[in-house]
Amino acid sequence: MTSFAETDAWDPPVLAGRLVVLRRHRAEDLGPILRWYADPEVARLTRYSVRPMTDEEVRRYFETRLLSPGALAYGIHERGTDRLIGLTTFSSLDPENGSVLFHITIGEHDRWGHGYGTEATELMLRLAFERFGLHRVGLSVFSFNERAIRSYTKAGFVVEGRLRDAIARDGRWWDEVQMGILRDEWLAAHAMPARTGG
Ligand SMILES: CC(C)(COP(=O)(O)OP(=O)(O)OC[C@H]1O[C@@H](n2cnc3c(N)ncnc32)[C@H](O)[C@@H]1OP(=O)(O)O)[C@@H](O)C(=O)NCCC(=O)NCCS
Repeated sequence: MTSFAETDAWDPPVLAGRLVVLRRHRAEDLGPILRWYADPEVARLTRYSVRPMTDEEVRRYFETRLLSPGALAYGIHERGTDRLIGLTTFSSLDPENGSVLFHITIGEHDRWGHGYGTEATELMLRLAFERFGLHRVGLSVFSFNERAIRSYTKAGFVVEGRLRDAIARDGRWWDEVQMGILRDEWLAAHAMPARTGG
């Protein structure tokens, strides 16, 4: 039986926006991804441990979670240059409850704060709600990551809760912030007719 994510109809090879193009990963994406995950600032913003992932861990993650045929994972390419600048994935897909978790990393520092992350997030939300017909997309983010929280808020996520003092970083405690967006909220914001049975 064909799995949920194995057909192009459900999981298109390319999602094109105004600023970025999302493409399924190719083997040559590994080089930049190894460099991003070796970056202490990326680790600080995205990981409970400040220790960056080892090359071996990144290779395994790339093979199993990014490159594999059923992976709900895309490289983020700058439109125009086609430069690979980041990656975005869904994890914990739960078709029965219509939910999934969202993740994004723009790995190239010089591309932070130019609107790329917000647009990539919106492209993934369109995929989740308008193609997959999901009900809910959730994420978690450290409370010190104000750029990410701002970007997620612009894309339509709202704060749903906080794990208080869940992370020690830079000499103090910070919350892990839980954010989410529901299908009706996305459709209302994007003026799509609501589907039934989704
Ligand atoms: C988080 C991330 C995806 C956001 O993408 P981005 O392209 O940098 O973000 P955008 O440019 O679309 O939007 C950022 C917004 O935050 C604002 N911002 C930037 N730095 C900020 C800061 N220090 N504090 C508050 N807001 C900030 C920007 O002004 C912009 O808002 P505006 O359009 O209203 O002016 C990207 O920065 C990234 O991947 N960072 C490294 C890894 C990471 O943090 N991943 C998320 C883990 S949960």
